[in-house]
Amino acid sequence: MSTVDPVTPVLTKRWLSPRSWSIQTYEQLEGYTALRKALTATPEQIVQMVKDSGLRGRGGAGFPSGLKWSFMPPNFDKPHYLVINADEGEPGTCKDIPLMMADPHSLIEGCVIASYAMRANYCFIYVRGEVLHCIRRLNQAVAEAKAAGYLGKDILGSGYDLEIVVHAGAGAYICGEETALLDSLEGRRGQPRLKPPFPAAAGLYAAPTTVNNVETIASVPYIINGGAEWFRKMGTEKSPGPKIYSISGHVERPGQYEAPLGTTLRQLLEMAGGMKDGIPLKFWTPGGSSTPMFTAEHLDVPLDFEGAVEAGSILGTTAVMVFNETVSVPWAVMKWTQFYKHESCGKCTPCREGTYWLVQILERMVAGNGTEEDIDTLLDICDNVLGRSFCALGDGAVSPITSGIQYFRDEFLALCEKNRAKNRKPALAGAN
Ligand SMILES: Cc1cc2nc3c(=O)[nH]c(=O)nc-3n(C[C@H](O)[C@H](O)[C@H](O)COP(=O)(O)O)c2cc1C
Ligand code: SF4
Repeated sequence: MSTVDPVTPVLTKRWLSPRSWSIQTYEQLEGYTALRKALTATPEQIVQMVKDSGLRGRGGAGFPSGLKWSFMPPNFDKPHYLVINADEGEPGTCKDIPLMMADPHSLIEGCVIASYAMRANYCFIYVRGEVLHCIRRLNQAVAEAKAAGYLGKDILGSGYDLEIVVHAGAGAYICGEETALLDSLEGRRGQPRLKPPFPAAAGLYAAPTTVNNVETIASVPYIINGGAEWFRKMGTEKSPGPKIYSISGHVERPGQYEAPLGTTLRQLLEMAGGMKDGIPLKFWTPGGSSTPMFTAEHLDVPLDFEGAVEAGSILGTTAVMVFNETVSVPWAVMKWTQFYKHESCGKCTPCREGTYWLVQILERMVAGNGTEEDIDTLLDICDNVLGRSFCALGDGAVSPITSGIQYFRDEFLALCEKNRAKNRKPALAGAN
């Protein structure tokens, strides 16, 4: 018998329907009913409902969404903006693009409800430019929604106006950091801004702005229709609701698996058909490359915001990358670090210089030219990057290294031993 709880899909319930992305399919399957409901409530009532639901941001940090919305000022000195973070650039993270491809109207409906709740008349969806197919699909969905009266002027006769603009980014991981994203959206080079002021006070064009992840906003119509209590029945007390876990790597059936927050890797592996070819699990990330890795010891860690932290990592974006025993940890760590070095925006010294030196050392070690002292140097550099960088990219960059050495120091040592053996002088023949 399966140990996995029966899961009724919420966020992915339309994904397998024919032409799931079209407005016709969406409307047949409850689409835009939440919007009709929301427009009969006041913006304050919607913010309160989202607060009551316990929805937390799905972009990585898990910040309570209703609380974030309530930071938007009540006055109208300046326009208010909602910005959707659809940059999705972290290695392993691949849930938002499938969501937008399969069910773009759930995001659009969520955008209209959230914008109404925050009194925004403009909403921007910032998508990375590489995913042209996704941008086309979103543009099509926006046009369909507009033609049907769900967007534009006087939405469904409510007197409320909203325009949605789909913006193509140029594909930099740092542009997923919310303030760098805002700079990029304004046409500048994407680099993080000093906070405060936070976006709710001075965001896009220095006006009140809320930045939310795709999955966060796509969850909103279900909360409006199902109610806060219903939403809280899924997941855990502090991390309620359904979640899309993206499972990649050495499993039989990689893909997107929707499950309540708090589901364990053991349960997810069962859904994904187990380890590929039965080769045992070695290490895995709970939420992308910036989340400290776990090992086979962590199969039963509840993957919610609290459970992941208690076990020594973070939930991140629930991008579960699974690696079997054939993969070298120092090699994987080197590949991730090369990514962070490439994506470091260069604004602050610890991250810009640190990632450069970390790559130099890791490449040397993986090539078999490292020394035992290199391990200490790696940890020392990590210590100077973690908590000392301008934004969370720096913190994320050191996670694979520190956790890799924590659990697999022997493998790093073995590389150094190889080097020592290589350099050992051959014994002179006949010497005694
Ligand atoms: C380097 C970096 C990259 C990020 N990339 C993304 C991203 O692609 N998508 C996303 O939603 N959040 C990303 N974030 C988190 C955002 O800064 C922000 O917390 C999030 O968009 C807020 O939305 P939420 O409250 O709905 O989670 C990133 C953060 C950092 C530091
Ligand atoms: S931590 Fe890295 S990405 Fe963030 S501001 Fe500093 S250099 Fe840029």
